[in-house]
Amino acid sequence: MRGGRPSPPKANRELAALRSRLANAEAALRAVRNGEVDAVVVSGKGGSRVFTLAGAEHSYRVLIETMNEGALALTADKMILYANQRFAGMVKRPLEQVIGSSMRRFLSAEDRALLKTHLKRASESGAKFQVMLIAGDGSRMPVQISLRPMGGSSPSQRTIGVVVTDISEARRSEELLRALSKRVVQVQEAERGRVAFELHDNITQLVCAVLFRSQALADHLSPRDGTSKKEAMRLREMLGKTAEEVERISRNLGPTVLDNMGLATALSEAGTKFAERTGVSVDVACVKLIARMPADTELALYRILQEALRNVEKHASARHVTVSLRRIGGFVRLAIGDDGIGFEPGLRKAKGKGKRGLGLLSMRERAGYVGATFKISSRRRSGTEIEILVPMTAAVSAS
Ligand SMILES: Nc1ncnc2c1ncn2[C@@H]1O[C@H](COP(=O)(O)OP(=O)(O)OP(=O)(O)O)[C@@H](O)[C@H]1O
Ligand SMILES: [Mg+2]
Repeated sequence: MRGGRPSPPKANRELAALRSRLANAEAALRAVRNGEVDAVVVSGKGGSRVFTLAGAEHSYRVLIETMNEGALALTADKMILYANQRFAGMVKRPLEQVIGSSMRRFLSAEDRALLKTHLKRASESGAKFQVMLIAGDGSRMPVQISLRPMGGSSPSQRTIGVVVTDISEARRSEELLRALSKRVVQVQEAERGRVAFELHDNITQLVCAVLFRSQALADHLSPRDGTSKKEAMRLREMLGKTAEEVERISRNLGPTVLDNMGLATALSEAGTKFAERTGVSVDVACVKLIARMPADTELALYRILQEALRNVEKHASARHVTVSLRRIGGFVRLAIGDDGIGFEPGLRKAKGKGKRGLGLLSMRERAGYVGATFKISSRRRSGTEIEILVPMTAAVSAS
């Protein structure tokens, strides 16, 4: 048992020699990093080989090693040829374990597919996209990946330069902003409800009382009173219109019909009233759903219809509008279509002095708050269609 082991003094000597070689190696590495070395001679079986370290190259190396972004060189089949310390820090693995492994290791299955698609494109030009980086301890970091081809004679030999930027902070700000705008919408809805209630309960009642008085006055005056009677009748007519208008505003502000009669009826009523007011014909095909959706989902769909109809009136020059609500598979689908002039959603023109419309944005946001998707299809002279899909799971879980 004892034969194979060196005696303690010998072992100590070997240990000391190893320590000194390690210290030398570390000092050499430090010198290379700090740019104190111009060339390195490596002795091997085939003799000595000299590697020169040019000054300019050294600056690039320092830049890449000290930058705040992860930097990688990838082969076409996603193998990491080079990585800087920052990237190793991002994936919480020692650099030796990162270099030589596949980039796929740090991505989810979905993001791997995304990388594959972008790598194909990146061999021609560059690409930028966002993924979740999965670190060694399982934690996730949202990052932006930027790819650039770096040369190589054939596509399979080509290496790709990759810059990985941590976007956690930007994501947090985005989420905060989204939560804030959701809160603003909630406060706005509460305030609208309060104003609608005040209008309905106080102003409408007052206007109706004055209306009855003016009716009584008109009845009281005989035809001999001539202009006075005519004036009284005109007054009554105007008050009648005022009462209707106040009622309309109140209904738009806080759609009580939504609470009382449900979404399908509220949407149908909004469509019918729109047709009456604007003269644009509206086909409403809203099927009553078996179960009611959560109140905020129903309100979101109602507000989206209002905003879409406002756009039809303002921009479309349409003759016909269709509104449909029905259940398709696991979704509730609301669609609003018009046969108007259409537009190109990608080419949003600026409104006035750098101002942009907020209607489409608010529809998209409202849909997002209740877990629904928003899609707009439009082409010039071919009309516009807005489609909202609410997954039934989101509709149930949001309740
Ligand atoms: N149904 C439609 N038909 C034709 N063009 C439309 C339609 N809906 C939207 N647009 C176009 O898209 C643009 C953006 O619409 P959006 O609702 O976001 O803003 P807006 O209506 O101009 O302003 P805001 O809604 O803030 O009052 C409009 O200016 C218009 O050019
Ligand atoms: Mg609008």
